[in-house]
Amino acid sequence: MSTVMIVGATRGIGLEMVRQYAADGDIVIACARDTGAATLLDEVAAGIESVTIEQLDIADPASIDAAAERIGDGAIDKVVIVAGVAGGNQQTLDDLDIEAWHDTLNANTIGPALVARAFKRNLIASGNGSLMIISSQVGASTWPLGGMYIYSTTKAAVNRVGKILSIDWKDEPITVSIMHPGWVQTDMGGAQAELTVEESASGIRTVLSGLTKKDSGNFYKWNGELHAW
Ligand SMILES: NC(=O)c1ccc[n+]([C@@H]2O[C@H](COP(=O)([O-])OP(=O)(O)OC[C@H]3O[C@@H](n4cnc5c(N)ncnc54)[C@H](OP(=O)(O)O)[C@@H]3O)[C@@H](O)[C@H]2O)c1
Repeated sequence: MSTVMIVGATRGIGLEMVRQYAADGDIVIACARDTGAATLLDEVAAGIESVTIEQLDIADPASIDAAAERIGDGAIDKVVIVAGVAGGNQQTLDDLDIEAWHDTLNANTIGPALVARAFKRNLIASGNGSLMIISSQVGASTWPLGGMYIYSTTKAAVNRVGKILSIDWKDEPITVSIMHPGWVQTDMGGAQAELTVEESASGIRTVLSGLTKKDSGNFYKWNGELHAW
């Protein structure tokens, strides 16, 4: 039995990960930016003592620190940062929402670094901690399509956050990984996407369960293949 923290647990891939870990009997700390509106998460957690819901807005540094303070310094074996935003519809240079770019940077790039900082002690307490950042293939330099300035750059930057963490934490008992979850049928991915949430979440969990320290700094696909940088 592991203790797993899912950041961004109210919908989509994060919610499905809560469901799957809870079904396996793991202890789950499910984080939601608005706990009062987390209806689907409330349904999944209902009656399961091993699932607790914590408020954490990844775009708000004070909210991250407050969550860390409440949760305390107990061991957490896996921290999975799933929370992310697409950045809106104005993502070309000719039609660009600059404020949305800043907001998206806060959520997709800076927030994951601050979550890593806030919960480092819990991962160390595990003795074999694993931090995974759910990013995207669009953050890879090999991604062939243009446009999407906001989403692509904030995901490229968080890939780098993960890589830097793996280097800075090379002597810590923490494995850091970056994950492209596939094109998934969620609010973000749309109904026509290739994978169900069940397929993506179970693939991600399989990858996570097989990681060891030597894998730290790798960028994966949901099916376990390495992703090109
Ligand atoms: N779906 C895809 O095809 C796809 C492909 C590549 C990468 N990804 C990445 O996979 C991750 C999950 O995507 P998804 O498809 O499951 O998206 P989704 O269905 O849109 O769900 C996004 C999740 O992130 C949470 N979130 C957003 N901003 C937050 C904040 N400031 N603080 C805390 N939580 C926040 C949302 O919470 P609220 O309910 O409060 O908004 C929700 O739980 C994202 O990082 C996304 O970029 C997805």
